[in-house]
Amino acid sequence: MSIAEIFETMEYGPAPESASPALRWLEERGRTFGHLIGGEWRDPSGGEYFDSTNPATNKPLARIAQGTPADVDAAVRAAREALPAWQALDGHARARYLYAIARHVQRHARLFAVLESLDNGKPIRESRDIDIPLVARHFYHHAGWAQLMDTELPGQVGVGVIGQIIPWNFPMLMLAWKIAPALAMGNTVVLKPAEFTSLTALLFAEVCRDAGLPPGVVNIITGDGRTGAALVEHPDVDKIAFTGSTDVGRIIRVATAGTGKKLSLELGGKSPFIVFDDADLESVVEGVVDAIWFNQGQVCCAGSRILAQEGIADRLVARLRERMETLRVGDPLDKGVDIGAIVAPVQLQKITELVNQGRDEGATMWQPSWSCPAEGCFYPPTLFTDVSPSSTIAQVEIFGPVVVLMTFRTPAEAVALANNTAFGLAASVWTESINLALDVAPKVLAGTVWVNSTNLFDAASGFGGYRESGFGREGGKEGLWEYVKPRWELEGKNGAAARREEKRGKPARAEKARGNGAGPVLPPIDRTAKLYIGGKQARPDSGYSMPVMGAGERVLGDVGLGNRKDVRNAVEAAHKARGWAKGTAHNRAQVIYYMAENLAARADEFARRIAQMTGDEAGAEREVEASIRRLYTYGAWADKYDGQVHATPLRNVTIAMNEPIGVVGVACPDTAPLLGFISAVIPAVAMGNAVVVVPSERWPLAATDFYQVLDTSDVPGGVVNIVTGKRDELAETLASHDDVDAVWYFGSAEGSTMVERLSAGNMKRTWVSYGRERDWYDAEQGEGREFLRQATQVKNIWVPYGE
Ligand code: NAI
Ligand code: MG
Repeated sequence: MSIAEIFETMEYGPAPESASPALRWLEERGRTFGHLIGGEWRDPSGGEYFDSTNPATNKPLARIAQGTPADVDAAVRAAREALPAWQALDGHARARYLYAIARHVQRHARLFAVLESLDNGKPIRESRDIDIPLVARHFYHHAGWAQLMDTELPGQVGVGVIGQIIPWNFPMLMLAWKIAPALAMGNTVVLKPAEFTSLTALLFAEVCRDAGLPPGVVNIITGDGRTGAALVEHPDVDKIAFTGSTDVGRIIRVATAGTGKKLSLELGGKSPFIVFDDADLESVVEGVVDAIWFNQGQVCCAGSRILAQEGIADRLVARLRERMETLRVGDPLDKGVDIGAIVAPVQLQKITELVNQGRDEGATMWQPSWSCPAEGCFYPPTLFTDVSPSSTIAQVEIFGPVVVLMTFRTPAEAVALANNTAFGLAASVWTESINLALDVAPKVLAGTVWVNSTNLFDAASGFGGYRESGFGREGGKEGLWEYVKPRWELEGKNGAAARREEKRGKPARAEKARGNGAGPVLPPIDRTAKLYIGGKQARPDSGYSMPVMGAGERVLGDVGLGNRKDVRNAVEAAHKARGWAKGTAHNRAQVIYYMAENLAARADEFARRIAQMTGDEAGAEREVEASIRRLYTYGAWADKYDGQVHATPLRNVTIAMNEPIGVVGVACPDTAPLLGFISAVIPAVAMGNAVVVVPSERWPLAATDFYQVLDTSDVPGGVVNIVTGKRDELAETLASHDDVDAVWYFGSAEGSTMVERLSAGNMKRTWVSYGRERDWYDAEQGEGREFLRQATQVKNIWVPYGE
């Protein structure tokens, strides 16, 4: 027998990791757990408990408290009480706590890993070598951000009390992703683990106590979706961070709409795994193993859609089937096992049903010849071929060890197939041509793209979705923004404005205001300003117009009364102008400077117009001047809002690119008719978005006059589309439009609520003012990075190097 033959025939013996330390830990606590609230263990106020089970045996492990709204309330209060002292600590002190937590996690690393595998069913190799080391890394990394907060995020403060709801697929890792940045930025938290997997969070509660964390900074509440809903709805929570299904994400978006709660959502995916003909076949096969059989395929960014180029597809299928024969499914605590147990019977059933549906819809299913253990929740690795791109199994997140394979011919076809889903969480691209890889990566709509690799994560890199995979990032500097807000927002209405007026002495605006707005004497303008769509003036679909009143109740003119149809036309025109994003940033800068030049040439005309509307001549001149400056600001920024290269510890460069979001709907503030318009529109345009703008409803004429500036400044048609009319009506259409990717709304609290609620349809990003006024003249409030961040989304591209 040759050595090769021995290798072929060699059987694995079992290599079990001992469960005893974890079982002892459970035993010592009577296998019954309450909530951690304000540093103390509390029984559930409703007296209700449920079992957490081991999915490999279907036997119960412990009794877990079912959190009631009263429990949630107690936890939120504890977090609120702990907040001032925690926020008042300097970054260094918070860094020390986070560092201590990291040390404690490492000290109990094996206990965490075994407990995780028992409760969740994941192979011990993964919990031991991936999940828990990454948890420690996350706390270390964020200890550093706490230390650097003052210098790296100047002018920012923690958001407050954070409600965090996490899923069961990476219980401890998701906890770390939520808690570490929140604490680093000076927030306190109430976290609810998933009902299938609460145990490691409860062990973590003990770690917080042992690390000396002040009581109430971290509170852990257990329970099912009802407990989660109570946390979402609690009025004293300042932000919700959620990871889980898109359905629940949508419920949370609607429930938090208009409450002013900050929100980040990390939802599902159906991530493409794109294989080109020239890819290294053996690496691809191991890549697929990682992409879809890691964690039983219960991974939000699982590469669940293999897209193979025609020249390699047959060989790939053959090699995959061979490889699948050698995968081992079984006891999660066996160190030789590749695939453990599915988290719960209900998930096993969901997988089984979707696989049956795939077969019924005509796809070819393939599973290895061996069978899974009969006891417990096991499912074999499964490969579907002959899959049509629109079939259920090609579109729906299966969340199990099931992958579909489709073929393509050209790179363009690969991109089209890749983007043929509502999700946008991750993608991987396999080719030996770096050129091709880096050409495809930006074209795929996904928050993470792995080149010749997959499922790589690190605390230094952001992770999060495009489109219906949610918004917000976790990890990296980009993730910190989810847990801070500008300090000026704390200062009440127009905090900075009041300060500046004080400095100036007399409010400038009042200085030259004409008594009861008689305004400069000019003949009335007999003209109806049309809409501006696709670079052309367009009559409103309604055929109606509305009068614009100037100072002294004088009618200054009419503007078109835009409606739904006009908005839809404008969105279509904006989509056609998406080439704007593909041009160079240098070109966008030039166009914006050109706008500034052309506005300066007409400064008097614009000032007169503003004065007619507002009745404030000096203010009008100041506004035009400020608008020209603002254009310069974004001309400057257009080619300087750089991405980053993250220092992840693996052998690769992780490129964080700031990408435009797409089509952005903008409802402008009513005040500052020109400056408000410029301030809201130009940052979006500078970053490569196309916009549909609803200008000031009260004073739209400055915006309609601006058509001339757009026409003379080489702005391609469709990049800026302007629809005048009733702001809230038009914003409603924008917020519910599925081809609009983000909506910015500077208006009333009610309008803000409406926009947030309707955005849940396609999970578009929103940025609303809740009726809070900005001082548009103030550089901190009226321009800069906050606007650029809102105008972009970060894509992380992982490019490995070395052999
Ligand atoms: P889920 O979204 O219901 O659960 C996630 C978390 O949200 C849990 O902590 C749960 O208790 C909580 N929750 C449930 N309803 C809530 C509500 N109304 N308000 C607030 N919190 C609520 O996910 P589930 O039911 O466990 O799994 C169903 C499917 O969701 C899976 O088959 C998978 O397709 C997807 N999923 C995706 C995840 C991802 O990371 N993308 C993670 C977990 C599930
Ligand atoms: Mg469990």
